[in-house]
This record gives sequence, C-alpha cells and structure tokens, in this order.
Amino acid sequence: MAKQFDVAIIGAGAAGMMCAAIAGARGKRVVLIDHAEKLAEKIRISGGGRCNFTNINAGPANFLSENPHFCKSALSRYTAQDFLALVKKHRIGYHEKHRGQLFCNDSAEQIIAMLKAECSAAEVNWRMPCKVHEVTKEEGGYVVATDHGDILAESVVIATGGLSIPKIGATDLGYRIATQFGLPLVEPRPGLVPLTFDGPSWAAFAPLAGIALEVEVSTGSGKGKNAKRGLFREDLLFTHRGLSGPAILQISSYWEPGTPIVVNLLPEMDVAEELIGSKTTVKKQLGNVLSQWLPARLAEGLLLANGFAPDARLADLPDARLRKLGDAINRWAIVPTGSEGYRKAEVTLGGVDTRALSQQTMMAKDVPGLYFIGETVDVTGWLGGYNFQWAWASGYVAGQSV
Ligand code: FDA
Repeated sequence: MAKQFDVAIIGAGAAGMMCAAIAGARGKRVVLIDHAEKLAEKIRISGGGRCNFTNINAGPANFLSENPHFCKSALSRYTAQDFLALVKKHRIGYHEKHRGQLFCNDSAEQIIAMLKAECSAAEVNWRMPCKVHEVTKEEGGYVVATDHGDILAESVVIATGGLSIPKIGATDLGYRIATQFGLPLVEPRPGLVPLTFDGPSWAAFAPLAGIALEVEVSTGSGKGKNAKRGLFREDLLFTHRGLSGPAILQISSYWEPGTPIVVNLLPEMDVAEELIGSKTTVKKQLGNVLSQWLPARLAEGLLLANGFAPDARLADLPDARLRKLGDAINRWAIVPTGSEGYRKAEVTLGGVDTRALSQQTMMAKDVPGLYFIGETVDVTGWLGGYNFQWAWASGYVAGQSV
C-alpha cells in the first residue's frame, strides 16, 4: 500500500490536535480529520468560554476508570506544568480560579488558536469538514474512507471524544471503531451532569430553584465491594427539575442509578446538637433559628418537607424530633430518578476499555497501529480542568509513539 501519511488522526478536538502537533513535530506526516464545520467547539464553550484548560494539582486520584492505574503513565509524562509552559510560550494570560483550576483571562479561543498554531508549525494536514465512512486495516496500514476520498496511513489515532453534547458534533464513531477491531467497551454513560428527581418527590423542593449553597455530598451506598465512592465539598444549586452545581456534577460521576446521594447542607455544624443546645437559651421560632444558618427560603422548605411548622417554637419541640430534623439537614439522603443526560453532561464516563490499550503508548495491544486517546477512552476526570489534562496527556503520549 502506498501510504500518503504516517498518521491519520480522526477528531480534531483537544486530544487530536495535541497528538497531531506532537507527532508532526517529530517529523511524521500527519493528517487531522474532523466532520465539524467549526474547529474544537468543546474547547470554545468550555469553562464558560474561558476554558479551564488544566488543574495544577491533577493526579491519578482525580480520575475515574475501571482501571484507576491506567492514566498514571500519561499523566506523569505530560503534566499540567507542561501544558502551562505551552500556554506561557504563546503568551496567553491565565489565572487560578479555585483549587488549582487554571482559566484563560480572555477567551477559550486562545487555546484553540494555540493548538492550531502548534499544528501549523508541525505541518499537519487538515481534512475538515470531512465525514469518515469507515476505517479498515490493510497490509501495513489503514484506509480511512472519507468524503474526500480514501486516506492511507500507517497508523490511525481515534480522538473522536465521547457522546456529550450531540448538537455540537459528538458521535459514537470511536466506540464503533473499537468494537469493529474487537476492543471491549466499558458502557458509556453521562458524567458531570445535573441530577433529576420525579415530579411528586421533587414537588416540595421545586420552589427552591435558584438557591445555591456550599455543601458536602457523597455516595457510598453503591452496591458491591467495587462500588465507587465520592465525597466533594462544593456548591450545590437547586433547579426546577432537581439538583445541579459543581457538587452535584462531581458526585454524578460516582452515582449509580437506584442508589441515594447524601447531602450535608450544613457541613460546618452538627445541626441537632446546635438546635438542642439552643433550646434553653433561645425562645425563638424554629424557622428563624434555621435561617440564621441557611438561606431563609431553604430553611422554610426543609421544615415543610419534614413536617415542621416554621413558626413552631424551638423550646416546645422534643429532642428526638430535633435530632430527626438535624439528620435531615446533615444527612439528606435522596435517590435521583435520573440525570439530564448527554444533552447537558460535560463528559462521558466509560468508553474504550483500558485493558485493551497500552498505557505507555495508547495503542491497542492486539491491533498494531490503532490508537485511542482523550475522552473516547475509559478515563474520566473530575470537574476542574482534569478532563482537558487527560486529553493533552493522552494525546501527547500517542503523538510520541505513532
Ligand atoms: P473533543 O470532544 O474535544 O473532540 C472530539 C472531536 O472529534 C470533535 O472535534 C468532533 O467534531 C470530532 N468527531 C466526533 N465524531 C466524529 C466523526 N464521526 N467523524 C469525524 N470527527 C468526529 N474539561 C475541562 O477540563 N475543563 C473545562 O473547562 C471543561 N468544560 C466543559 C464544558 C462543556 C459544556 C463540556 C461539554 C465539556 C467540558 N469539558 C471541560 C470536557 C472537555 O471538553 C472534554 O473532556 C475534552 O474536550 C475531550 O477532548 P477530546 O479531544 O477527547 O474530545
């Protein structure tokens, strides 16, 4: 087969562009193929338009995967500091917002322009917009059949991302190619996504939409010894259909359908002890006492949902009832009905099973020359810049190896 390219990369998102720039800089003849009209839409909309491009504390503990060790090699070979050095080289202003999260001062467009410039410097060829019909293996390489004709390459890198936000071009092509070549999948599902509750169970809370507060949220009731456990202290937001905000997005990736999440609405305080302790000194109404600690609308909603009249006098209530109320606030256990799905999910959990890939190169162990990188792979980061760091790191190691 007369090969036009050393490497064909399908998907010009975060991971694909990084891989192309690295492979091109090594002198490889690279072609980057994407079906989208507009380049890297996900980077453009990320971080509210400012792209939370990495997290300086990123490490393996910030990622979910059936094999939590898999990501270690790539994350150590291309670190947040390495990406930051690239950002500095391109003179992009940035700031740390919260717990190591780095954002552009101006616009996510700068990250796209930076990656594009790196690809240009590495003489990467583009086919975009360009539909991919199929990928087949031939003697000594691969044929990628596209709208622009057949592309012949020695290696193929699949960087088509996950299923989140279908309206900006997410497809299951990466999973289909993996399956075609016999690679197993960990079932994909939405992650970093708001959780929803059915109408009747949420009726008492729907009027609280718009209230936000810092909480501690956990799972832990997942079944079996391998159940994934999460614990986060972040902001929670009540919505008309359920719960959102960083705390809920984080825990959603650990949540298993049918199990509860447990929210501590006042993590600084043992509410039952405080209420009981206040009985002798405070002759106040329960609603007034609680609203010293919680937004007033939330305090009232919680009292009503738990069968208390907001004007009940604290001193008149038995300790046992106050303990129950304290529990309902410090350990609010609720079973979500579902999530807002891929339409709103920031990432896709699951994907190409890492057991089928080499962690040093991202190549399929049994299919020489076929690589998978980025979100297509069963490695999913927390909220906070971790998912881009995985895209950069996995793109880098594949780019070094192809
Ligand atoms: P990515 O999705 O970036 O790229 C995949 C590419 O493949 C796309 O260009 C697509 O068009 C192309 N493609 C798909 N199917 C194809 C097909 N059939 N044929 C050809 N091309 C195809 N993360 C983070 O760390 N910090 C943040 O601030 C945010 N913010 C954020 C906001 C929102 C709204 C979302 C939805 C997501 C985030 N993320 C994030 C997550 C982050 O965007 C995501 O994890 C990375 O973009 C994944 O990089 P990939 O390169 O793997 O996929």
